[in-house]
Amino acid sequence: MTKSSTPLGEPLGRVDGRAKVTGQAKYAAEFSEPGLLHGVVVSGTIARGRIKKIDASEALALPGVLHVFTHENRPHVAWFDRSYRDEDAPSGSPFRPLYDDEILFSGQPVALVVAQTLELALHAASLVRVEYKTQPHETELRSRRQEAYAPGKDKGGFEPPPKPRGHADKAFERAAVKVDAEYSTPVEHHNPMEMHASTVLHGNDGVLTVHDKTQGVQNCQKYLSRVFNLPKDGVRVLSPFVGGAFGSGLRPQYQLFLAVLAARELKRSVRVALTRQQMFTFGHRPETVQRVALGASSDGTLQAIIHEAVAETSRFEDYVEIIVNWSGLLYQCDNVRLDYKLVALDNYTPLDMRAPGAVVGVYALECAMDELAHKAGIDPLELRLKNYAERDQNEDKPFSSKELRACYRQGAERFGWAGRNPTPRSMRDGKQLIGWGLATGIWEAMQQQASARAVLSIDGRLTVGSATSDIGTGTYTVMTQIAADTLGVPVEDVTFSLGDSLLPTSPVEGGSWTVSSVGSAVKLACEKVRARVFELARKVEGSPLAKASLEEVTFAGGRIHLSGEPSRSVSITDAMRHGGVLSLEEEALAIPNLAKQNQYTRCAHSAVFVEVKVDEALGTVRVTRVVSAIAGGRVLNPQTARSQILGGIVWGLGMALQEESAMDPKLGRFMNHNLAEYHVPVNADVGELDVLFVEEHDDVVNPLGAKGLGEIGIVGVAAAIANAIFHATGKRVRDLPITLDKVL
Ligand code: MOS
Repeated sequence: MTKSSTPLGEPLGRVDGRAKVTGQAKYAAEFSEPGLLHGVVVSGTIARGRIKKIDASEALALPGVLHVFTHENRPHVAWFDRSYRDEDAPSGSPFRPLYDDEILFSGQPVALVVAQTLELALHAASLVRVEYKTQPHETELRSRRQEAYAPGKDKGGFEPPPKPRGHADKAFERAAVKVDAEYSTPVEHHNPMEMHASTVLHGNDGVLTVHDKTQGVQNCQKYLSRVFNLPKDGVRVLSPFVGGAFGSGLRPQYQLFLAVLAARELKRSVRVALTRQQMFTFGHRPETVQRVALGASSDGTLQAIIHEAVAETSRFEDYVEIIVNWSGLLYQCDNVRLDYKLVALDNYTPLDMRAPGAVVGVYALECAMDELAHKAGIDPLELRLKNYAERDQNEDKPFSSKELRACYRQGAERFGWAGRNPTPRSMRDGKQLIGWGLATGIWEAMQQQASARAVLSIDGRLTVGSATSDIGTGTYTVMTQIAADTLGVPVEDVTFSLGDSLLPTSPVEGGSWTVSSVGSAVKLACEKVRARVFELARKVEGSPLAKASLEEVTFAGGRIHLSGEPSRSVSITDAMRHGGVLSLEEEALAIPNLAKQNQYTRCAHSAVFVEVKVDEALGTVRVTRVVSAIAGGRVLNPQTARSQILGGIVWGLGMALQEESAMDPKLGRFMNHNLAEYHVPVNADVGELDVLFVEEHDDVVNPLGAKGLGEIGIVGVAAAIANAIFHATGKRVRDLPITLDKVL
């Protein structure tokens, strides 16, 4: 057999890697054509009120400035059908740029200046004068907690917290050991390397080709069709490469609307790229304040879990994420009460950010578990094993698979957890206090409906496509492996296409469901081709496969072999030549087997072990060692899988110690809107990271058995770090990020 004949499970390097490192990969703002116009967004400066007057005369007087779009002069467009929601929209009324004079949040786009060059547009934008009538704004969650409300039922498909079970408050009162604490997490903003941008190429026939930074080309295509009332073939959206997104590209962002508005009105090609500052003017991870109360018997058996979360949303949409449900799922406990409320602020609507909900909810729960372990005098790992949930008590269902115990065991061994002295401040390295902490992570394993097309050519080349995206996660690579594996062709002979709204239907790339959903479609499409080429192979004159069934053959090295007799085979090329076909094309729609899946709770799990060193005098924290043990089903590519977990750990480190969008309550504006003041980890902040995948078999989640690894890697990391800091210092900081002023 030839190279790469069974590529699934192999650490194949990124098939798009060369294009990316050599600059061949083009991003949304890099597409161009002669005569391309440049649009620059004028951002509003107040948080709430109305626009009294916009004076663009100075800007328009500059030669080369073509137009300044405002709410006063915007062309009429079909605008938003109120019933229309993009794929990731929560309930409410989506933000409509330049709709009227009302200001809903600071940084709201109030004008788009279009000029012949970027420099001219930037300068002209600085000359647009806006007068406002301000109204009092509320941009702080804490001061408005009394006004928190429970979001209604129909919230973007998300379930409300499960109903209470048992009598949590009573059981808590009676418990021998108790923890009752408040935890908080700040607003965080998505800061991908590539900022949001749209380049709209205006064809002579009026057809628009839009290069957008997005996690869902078809989501954007549908949005544009609806908003501008365009025929289906009137706009095509492309996004072959995405320079990171983390959820920021799940919804169409306002630069897309503005660029298309300008292109249609001026009948010219237009690019609108947001600045780093403007990246802080749309969705973000919402601030939360959470109470977790845990009650246990003196041996550490949980008697009560109460988890109440308050999170922010905007005044125009109810953004809902699952924060508290995990607390009824992760541990065995008969008395549980979960509560989730929102506070509406004069901010933009929050937006999914890597492991939305879980990353903040599990942080609070896993810190509280650590506090409980300390109070009860039980090892934190033992406490978790003692309360291990064999079943999902929220839904009263078994897990489709759950190798979390193996994560605990293997992770602890790799880390050396057994050598931990349980007493805080007991471990030292000179002036550095050493702390060891751990936490559990969990994320849902989801499958969405998706489709793919596969074309096998007579030369053995396989072309597969689906309108998904690759936000850096490795979609190109893993889909290539799935296709190559199914048809037994070398990965070098496979081309996978994505990021084009003309390709077969796919959901947005999010929720860690891409391998599960699109991968299943790729497998199915390739299996259909496989069946057809096998029929042709059987009919080849003197075929050794004439009497064989599909189950009795193996596809490898571009040939179809009789299983057990590998020398008896027919090549794909010969089969197709004899059959008189140049190519075989199949499209497949992979539909989740809900009847089977719904009988189970399907989740990926992790155990995260952390070592920190805290400078006793300075309060500085260094994360010197992390071991993350993951149970995520079958690992299709250990290299891209490991990279996902590494990225998650590093971001968890940022969440624990650095990241925070600081609101100036007077201005109602995020102040640190740049990467100098919004801190993210750099290489020097990152210690030794060790990722291990435990073996886990699951034939429920999808036909591939892979659970998705895009999000599980970040969940639990911040709690493990916070717990390690407590162990090092004896000081419990419950308010993220844990900056040195809080540690001292
Ligand atoms: Mo992820 S927050 O679903 O891109």
